[in-house]
Order: sequence, then C-alpha cells, then structure tokens
Amino acid sequence: MKVRAKLGGRAFFVYDKTKVLKGVKEMKIGIDKIGFFTSHLFVDMKELAFARAEDPNKYLIGIGQSKMAVIPPSQDVVTMAANAAARILTTADKEQISYVIFATESGIDNSKATAVYLARLLGLKKEIRAIELKQACYGATAGIQLARGFVALNPDSKVLVIAADNARYGIKSPGEPTQGGGAVALLIGTNPQILALEDGSTAYTQDIMDFWRPLGKNEALVDGRYSEDVYLNFFSHVWQAYLDKTGYQLGDFAALLFHLPYTKMGLKALRIALKDARPDEAVNFVQEFEHARTFNREVGNLYTGSLYLSLLSLLFNSEKLRAGQRIGLFSYGSGAEAEFYSGIVQPNFKQGLMNVNYLQVLNERQEVSVSEYEKLYQQHLFSAQEGRVAYDTDPARYFFAGISDFKRQYQEK
Ligand code: COA
Repeated sequence: MKVRAKLGGRAFFVYDKTKVLKGVKEMKIGIDKIGFFTSHLFVDMKELAFARAEDPNKYLIGIGQSKMAVIPPSQDVVTMAANAAARILTTADKEQISYVIFATESGIDNSKATAVYLARLLGLKKEIRAIELKQACYGATAGIQLARGFVALNPDSKVLVIAADNARYGIKSPGEPTQGGGAVALLIGTNPQILALEDGSTAYTQDIMDFWRPLGKNEALVDGRYSEDVYLNFFSHVWQAYLDKTGYQLGDFAALLFHLPYTKMGLKALRIALKDARPDEAVNFVQEFEHARTFNREVGNLYTGSLYLSLLSLLFNSEKLRAGQRIGLFSYGSGAEAEFYSGIVQPNFKQGLMNVNYLQVLNERQEVSVSEYEKLYQQHLFSAQEGRVAYDTDPARYFFAGISDFKRQYQEK
C-alpha cells in the first residue's frame, strides 16, 4: 500500500489512497461468529394475555409473540453480553480482539462504558479499546459498520461488537407484551465464516419522538402506533434508496431481515418489499422470514440485538440458505435512524454458530407465572441504589451480585 515518493531530493513513503481502497474492496470483512444469550426464565404470552384480560391471539398473531424472556435481577447488559460472548470466543480470538464496541440503550453508568466491565470479565488483554454506543435499536449496526472500517485499516485485528438490552416498558403498559431481553455477540474480522459485508448501505436519520427514555427513568416512553409508521416509512426510504444505489432487485436477495421489536413489525415491512413480487418469489421470502423470526417469537424484544437474533434464527433454522446468497438487513432505531445493508453468506456459516443448539437452549428455559415475572421485574437494582441481589438460582456463568459503594459487582461462577 505504501509507494516511494521524492521531495527536495529526500525519498520517503506515502500511502497510495487508490491502492489502499482497492485492497479494502478486495478484502472480505464481516461477521465471523455469532453468540446469543438470554435469561433461563420466560413468561408464556397466553398467560400474560389472560392476566391482562386480552384475547391471546392479539399477542400470538396480532403482535406475533409466543414467549417473553424474563430477565432476573441477577442479569444486566454486562452479564448478558459476557454470557453471549463466552459462547463463541476462543483463546486465539481473545488474542486478536483489539476493540470492543458495546451497543446498548439499557446502560448502567453515565460515564463508564459497559465494554470496559465486559473486557475484564472476559479476560481480554489490556491493549485494546473499549467503548459504548447508543442510538436506540440501531446501535449495533453502527457498531458493525465502525468495526468494518477498523478491520479494513487493521486486517489482523478482530472487533467484538455487542448488542445487549433489557427491554422494559412497564407492567400493564401497552408496550408490556413487546418486552424481552438478551445479548448478541458478533465477532467482526477478515475472511469471515458467516457473512461478508457488501458496499452500498443506505442510511436515514430524522429527529422524531417515537420512543425515548429520559435520564433517571427505568422504563421507555413510546408512542407505539406512531413508531410503527416511522419504522415503515424509514424502511421504504432506505430500501428504495438501496435498490437505486446498487441496481439490485428483490430477486437478488435470498432473504430480508428486519429489526423485530415484535415479529409482526417485520412482517409489515416485508409486505412493503413484496408488493410487486411474483407469487412464488413472495412465498420464498415469507418462508425465510418465518425461519428468521422463530427465535424472536420465543424471546421477545432485544432492542438493538433484535435484528441480529433474527439473523441467527435464519442461519440456524433455514433449510434453503446457501453460500454465495445475498441477505438484506434492515436496522431501525427509534428517535429515529435506519440503515439497509447486505451481506453474502459464506461457506462455513454454520461453523460460525459454534455448535450451540439454540433450539435446545430456548426449550430448556423455565416458565414463570405472571405474578413471578412482576416480582422479578420490580426487584431490579438500578444505578443509584445499594444492595445485594439473589443470584443462587441463576444458572448463568456470569452474574450481577449487587451494588456496593455505588460500584456494580460482577462475578463469574
Ligand atoms: N386476534 C388477532 N389479532 C388481533 C387481535 C385478535 N384477537 N386483537 C388485536 N389484534 C391485532 C390488531 O389488529 C393489531 O394488528 P395490526 O397492527 O396489524 O393492526 C395488533 O393485534 C395490535 O393490536 P393493537 O390494538 O394495536 O395493540 P396495542 O394498542 O396494545 O399496541 C403496540 C400494540 C405494538 C403498538 C404496543 O404494544 C407498543 O407500543 N409496543 C412498543 C412498540 C415499540 O417498541 N416501538 C419502538 C420500536 S420500533
């Protein structure tokens, strides 16, 4: 990449920008591994519907959710991220990671980044950068794009991108059936096993109050119907802009993935993309969408991790997905910001899931009653509080033990 130049008789080296860019374009950069973690507890949406005097089909069909993860007080975004990352990281990966980018909208401190706690818990080396990113449910996509640029300039490095959230709207609030929580860990590097990212993504940002959480509030404020409209408008915008920019058509994609705050939301966006599709083409996209929402249906909202849980769900459950096929990803974060981008499925994509049987993981969770969920919901300790948290029944490797002297206590079993 460096070329020899001469100035005033002295020879020196400069970077040839065209060669650097050509090198970057030829290099495959993308998602090498994906790990996912959610709590061992869930509430059945039928039971929640009965408790709220709603028709269960409103939740099961109208909103598209079957179960909702219940996050116990012994888990927060840091521990969930550590539990997700521990599922994928080898000793060699830990040596190569030189950047941790932690995307969350359930932050635990106004100053210190969650990524710093995480790096220590995972035993990463100290010669790294560790930061936190925020833009509602869009944060992880921003993290992936930043990681891509960093890896292009540092091809021997890997970046750990985390998407972790505890989605809290409030007991008996309209947003309650769209709660959930968990973490997705994405390892970004060259020659990725899962998905090679393509150029040409399209983004859109507008200052909109559809969902926000003022400092000091532990639950989000949301204008649900308005948020749906903004989501769909932003999707139409970045999708069309992406097609115009790249020249691709619907038929150039094997599947379209969406941010899924609840799975019906993605279905509504898919219908926009399929409005001119041939019937056989539409059937194929709907089938892949069903595979892509299988896990989200079982877990609920992950906020910024929802799109990436959907990617994992597709990779795990699809029977048709093949190497060389293109996947489109729509990322949306209220407030509001959206991006559409694409990636090419790589030959070893199943290996990038590290042999974790997520179907079994989800099936082995314990059901809690609605009143147990309400109790656990209220027991969470937030930043300016002090106290211990009961963690004995939490089977997760990393857990949160409480707050002492305003310092959060994280432990490993
Ligand atoms: N059988 C089948 N479907 C039913 C039903 C039944 N018995 N009863 C209702 N439904 C459908 C409704 O027709 C509606 O479908 P539609 O969206 O296709 O029109 C859906 O279920 C929801 O019903 P609705 O009455 O609109 O529910 P709600 O007023 O309780 O609000 C949300 C639902 C999703 C708007 C609300 O839960 C919310 O605000 N969630 C948070 C949204 C969010 O997080 N936004 C930001 C991130 S993008």
